Amino acid sequence: MIQSRLARPRRRVATIISGTVVAAVTLAVGLTACTSDTGAGVIDTVGTIDFVNPLAIPPLAEATVNAAGERVFDLTAEEGTTEFTPGVATDTWGYNGSYLGPTLVAKRGDDVRINVGNDLDEATTVHWHGMNLPAEMDGGPHQTVEPGASWSPNFTIDQPAATLWYHPHPTEKTEHQVEMGLAGLFLLQDDEESALNLPRSYGVDDIPVVVQDRRFDDNGQFVTDVRGYIGPIGDQLLVNGTLAPYLDVTSDVVRLRLVNGSTARLYDFGFSDGRSFDLIATDGGLLREAAPMDGIRLSPGERAEILVKMTPGETVKLQSTPPDLGTSASAATRNAGDDTLDVMELRAADALSSIGATPTTLANIVPLDKADATTDRSFTLNGYTINNRLMDMTRIDETVEAGATEVWTVDNAMPLPHNFHVHAVQFQVLRVGTESPPAELSGWKDTIYLEPGVRYELIMQFAEYTDPNFPYMFHCHMLAHEDAGMMGQFVVVGPGGQAGTPPTAHDAIISRENLAVGNGPRVLTPDHGH
Ligand code: C2O
Ligand code: CU
Repeated sequence: MIQSRLARPRRRVATIISGTVVAAVTLAVGLTACTSDTGAGVIDTVGTIDFVNPLAIPPLAEATVNAAGERVFDLTAEEGTTEFTPGVATDTWGYNGSYLGPTLVAKRGDDVRINVGNDLDEATTVHWHGMNLPAEMDGGPHQTVEPGASWSPNFTIDQPAATLWYHPHPTEKTEHQVEMGLAGLFLLQDDEESALNLPRSYGVDDIPVVVQDRRFDDNGQFVTDVRGYIGPIGDQLLVNGTLAPYLDVTSDVVRLRLVNGSTARLYDFGFSDGRSFDLIATDGGLLREAAPMDGIRLSPGERAEILVKMTPGETVKLQSTPPDLGTSASAATRNAGDDTLDVMELRAADALSSIGATPTTLANIVPLDKADATTDRSFTLNGYTINNRLMDMTRIDETVEAGATEVWTVDNAMPLPHNFHVHAVQFQVLRVGTESPPAELSGWKDTIYLEPGVRYELIMQFAEYTDPNFPYMFHCHMLAHEDAGMMGQFVVVGPGGQAGTPPTAHDAIISRENLAVGNGPRVLTPDHGH
């Protein structure tokens, strides 16, 4: 068990970049490097934060059950202001509120419908990150919801218990809309997870921890002008929208659902006293076994559930120490790779309720077998391209057969950070370079950090939802990169099927095909009086 702590040292070690990678990259840097991407220097907030604000817990979204038996949620994107600091109103956006959104909860097997409204002055979309669902419900850049319009995707939850999240995904505007505050959690439950002795009282011993870095100007408004190659670099952290948060802990074990909700920054989460914690789940659900470790790196979009033991009356800080970006030292410095940040203070009550022994064996994950893979694809990220292509809404890049098992080999050909996210599927990691995956990459993942010059071999099995026209996305989840075109599209088709034509924003509204399958209004019926 100690191995997992030793396997990945928390501190960055010098990384030697091979000659071939450097050569490949010189070209890419020539194409895309921006001279203003010099970063923020080294930020160290340890010991400087007075944790005066109780951690906000996003409210649970209310659901009603409609005549069709669907659990129906309502989410409206809206503008507002938020006082992160008392007396200072920051312009922000949120769902059903001024910043972030409510937490949606559903069980495996539930049919859900989400009525999405848009009270913003610009178009948005809502994407269900990590969800396995039909393409036209996915909320990618094709499913635009115009101002005053609404969209009501419905789908059946058919995947393991997990910490998923939702956020906008509009063409070229995702960074801005997430920065303004549009994001929320979508928690999935199932019988396997429910049968385990784990903390699961939401907001009590099971705590959402959405971490975002932000930078404020003199008027208290968000600014994104300090940027590294990765995108904007903030010098303050919000946790669930709370600056300088503390959490009152009332149980001897607390479950933290860590979400990297930042647009660009990586974290390496751990505790101020170096204590170890148990990693129990990654993006797509529980691991096979609890994995003790003292730090976990998360790139934008990645999640981790951890169990932390507390003793009565103690305080300890959740911190982020310099994440290993796998880059040169100077590239790390320019991309927030040297930062040490106090995140949140955990304050244990003088008497703690007892959770009891938590399990070491968690989920039954059947390993996907390379021998079953029918297709290998490879993806090289370079500049803001994937396989030398920028995003084109009218082009289908990959055509996948429903139910197929595929191996996707992904590599970052730059000496700078990227990551990789695939919609609508949870994958397993077969190899990291020549190694088997470490514990934190041993379960279900939908987003993975790509260390420069390392090949990541992923295996995934696609579901049975087919649609030759409506694509899913794969992309870098550094949102500035995604907005710059570092994204591609794939469709899932029936046996022997061919890719069709992606809808344009216009004909997506009235697609006959969609009406024919009875999935209800998909997009864009203007609301009355708006
Ligand atoms: Cu969380 Cu395509 O994104
Ligand atoms: Cu990227």
